[in-house]
Amino acid sequence: MNIIKETKTFETVSSELLIVGVRKNSNVVKGWDQFISFFGTPIEEWVKSGDIQTDQKKLTKLPVISSNPNVKRILFVGLGDQKTLTDQVLRETFGQVGKELKKLKANTISIWLESFTAAPIDENDIAFLSAEGIGMGYYTVPHYKTTSNEPDTYLESVEFLTEADGNEVAASFKVGKVYADSVNEARSLVNRPPNILTAPELANYAVQLAEQYDFEVEILTRAELEELGMGGVLAVNQGSSIEPRMITLKYKATEDWKDVIGLVGKGITYDTGGYSIKTKTGMVGMKGDMGGAAAVLGAMRIVGELRPEQNVVAVIASTDNMISSDAMKPDDVITMYSGKTVEILNSDAEGRLVLADAVTYAKQHGANYLIDVATLTGGVITALGFDKTGALSNNEAFFDAFIEASIETGEFVWGMPLTESDKKRIRKSDVADLNNSPGSDGHMIFGGGFVGEFVENTPWIHLDIAGTSDSKSGHDLGPKGGTGVMVRTMATFIERFKDLQQERNSF
Ligand code: BES
Ligand code: ZN
Ligand code: ZN
Repeated sequence: MNIIKETKTFETVSSELLIVGVRKNSNVVKGWDQFISFFGTPIEEWVKSGDIQTDQKKLTKLPVISSNPNVKRILFVGLGDQKTLTDQVLRETFGQVGKELKKLKANTISIWLESFTAAPIDENDIAFLSAEGIGMGYYTVPHYKTTSNEPDTYLESVEFLTEADGNEVAASFKVGKVYADSVNEARSLVNRPPNILTAPELANYAVQLAEQYDFEVEILTRAELEELGMGGVLAVNQGSSIEPRMITLKYKATEDWKDVIGLVGKGITYDTGGYSIKTKTGMVGMKGDMGGAAAVLGAMRIVGELRPEQNVVAVIASTDNMISSDAMKPDDVITMYSGKTVEILNSDAEGRLVLADAVTYAKQHGANYLIDVATLTGGVITALGFDKTGALSNNEAFFDAFIEASIETGEFVWGMPLTESDKKRIRKSDVADLNNSPGSDGHMIFGGGFVGEFVENTPWIHLDIAGTSDSKSGHDLGPKGGTGVMVRTMATFIERFKDLQQERNSF
């Protein structure tokens, strides 16, 4: 997409569509007066007659004839009451704009930045939020229909009508676009059918990403996992005819490999439940059980684009969870990569097994801080619904810093307790060190808590995105399907890590 930095006056706007924010109170559009001579109508009259809506997220498109022949249409964007304008409201509003632009098949747009600003949200913030919102709202789920070959993007250029510095706003827009594009990449991974996105294919995607962004990459095959004794991944893979993969990417920001953030993703490309089989309705949608892996790869794409001063290692454990005469069974006892033994009580509690090996591997690769992200339990949906990511942590300050990043991105994260009595139940087994399914009461905590057993003293955050990774319906920032949740929060956390750490006198 071509980004035209700035234009200062309406007369020089070069796009066919001008995007203008309108508010509910007296000053409907800041600075509109200067344009009245071009349109001949004070905007208040259009608002009074109902031709323009000012309610939050309400869009009005009007064809215009003015002294600038380039501008054919104006898209008025309702902002509601100025007092209610937050980053997130604006992001979501621009999401609706993105959806509308796709419908309008608009090729060139100009955004009047000052019509959207609301202190302390300035022109740079609006440029960033509009790129994020429009980029995510514009997203289309890739499909395999033979009947349609519509392009999925029409947008060729964006221009800013603004008094602010054009270089700065264009730079902010570019960063927002990197965020949106990376979320959309993660969404497309989640949306991909499981016969197409297998573990080896996910690994191929990671290799491509590594080539594009100059990451170190290592892909472990089944034979290599056997040699290393990664019993968790191997047990889950046992019923499958498709090979598993352990995927490692390293982004080296500094000469010496220290102060490393480890991102660990659950990459189950399909979860049948195994012998603890899911119901026929519970199984549909389990192609999305690699949402954690997708989030890690999306965040790594942002890291690759923006190249922050922060070392990052990403580890993704990937396989499907299938049934065959070779498959893992309840009552099996397996030995994990760390050496700990686990009594299998439920083959559908497979995510924690692959994550545990991945966490051990990330530590071995020098991770000093760990974030694991996974579609881990139905329990998190029971507890928090479909709009909140559930979290666990072993380090208050580290977790608090992550929450700060999540507030910035507008992705809701809620911490849950992990008590000593929960840990006791995870450690309860007559035949092994741990069991993989202590019960169905509050079991989001058992899932994450199991992973915690392998983290030891490393500062750690567990993110259960079972409710938030896949949306059952369209929303302001995108369509039904993969959401790319946690891509932006993890990337923001990485980008801001040094500051967040300093503000809290280390973790
Ligand atoms: N992949 C599922 C969790 C899930 C549920 C993801 C719904 C997305 C939507 C996970 O592997 C699983 O099956 N968890 C079980 C664990 C239980 C058997 C202890 C669950 O939560 O029911
Ligand atoms: Zn499962
Ligand atoms: Zn699963």
